[in-house]
Amino acid sequence: MTNDQVPPPSIDTSLPHSARMYDYWLGGSSNFAADRALGQAFEQAIPSIRTMARENRRFLGRAVRHMVEEAGTTQFLDIGTGIPAPGDTHSVTEIVAPDSRVVCVDNDPIVNAHAQAHARRTAAEGTPSRTVYVQADLRRPEELLRAPELTAALDLDRPVGLLLIAVLMLLDDRDDPWASTATLLDALPPGSQVAITHPTQDFDPAAMGEVVKAAEQGHMTLVPRERSQVERFFGDWELVEPGVVPVMGWRPDGDLPDDPNAAYYWAGVARKPS
Ligand SMILES: C[S@@+](CC[C@H](N)C(=O)[O-])C[C@H]1O[C@@H](n2cnc3c(N)ncnc32)[C@H](O)[C@@H]1O
Repeated sequence: MTNDQVPPPSIDTSLPHSARMYDYWLGGSSNFAADRALGQAFEQAIPSIRTMARENRRFLGRAVRHMVEEAGTTQFLDIGTGIPAPGDTHSVTEIVAPDSRVVCVDNDPIVNAHAQAHARRTAAEGTPSRTVYVQADLRRPEELLRAPELTAALDLDRPVGLLLIAVLMLLDDRDDPWASTATLLDALPPGSQVAITHPTQDFDPAAMGEVVKAAEQGHMTLVPRERSQVERFFGDWELVEPGVVPVMGWRPDGDLPDDPNAAYYWAGVARKPS
């Protein structure tokens, strides 16, 4: 889908949406005027916002690689997956674990429309994808875990790599994102791992405050959270080194970046103990 093409009827493009705004920052073409306007308002408050989106994708790549290389993970559940694009879970596993199964979940019908197109393309090429897409909501985790496409693709008796990358901030405290996360963690067997990133006000409270104001004006929920609140998402799972740290500082490829705090996100990976 290219800019401003006619979207499926269920999508209101007059309202900005996080998946399409993120696509805009990542240089994609699946976004509309309202997404770009709010994306630019965020960028005024935090000029490095595109770097932050890219750094989340890079962290996703490092976390998936860690799960494959250090824990032998071959099944992934990516919730709040976003519009398919380079650097996503499907394309990273294609390189580091080509035999793995991936279930991508998102509640945005546009993500689903792209996903179905992707599945049709790969089937037509004679390589039906090992990645399936499910339209479901993180706020209803029991329902999400029961989705037939998910239960057909993943064996929940074997370790799973769960990815919650830049999605929990889109759930209000009233939705209790900690309870949703706990339900998911409880459903997975020992040896499973979870990777989480979350934006925070801890580095630049004023700039993050501007972003939250812009989001409110765009009718979008966006809740930055402090480090201790982000740590609670991991429950009693064991954080792998280096713990919950600025996203650019989590096991960087090569040297630590000059300013690891330049992306206002906390990130971490934890493992479910036996
Ligand atoms: C900022 S994007 C992050 C995309 C991807 N995880 C990444 O880091 O590149 C957030 C995604 O979460 C999805 N999302 C928001 N609320 C959700 C919910 N309640 N359940 C499932 N997905 C949700 C949005 O549609 C969007 O695609």
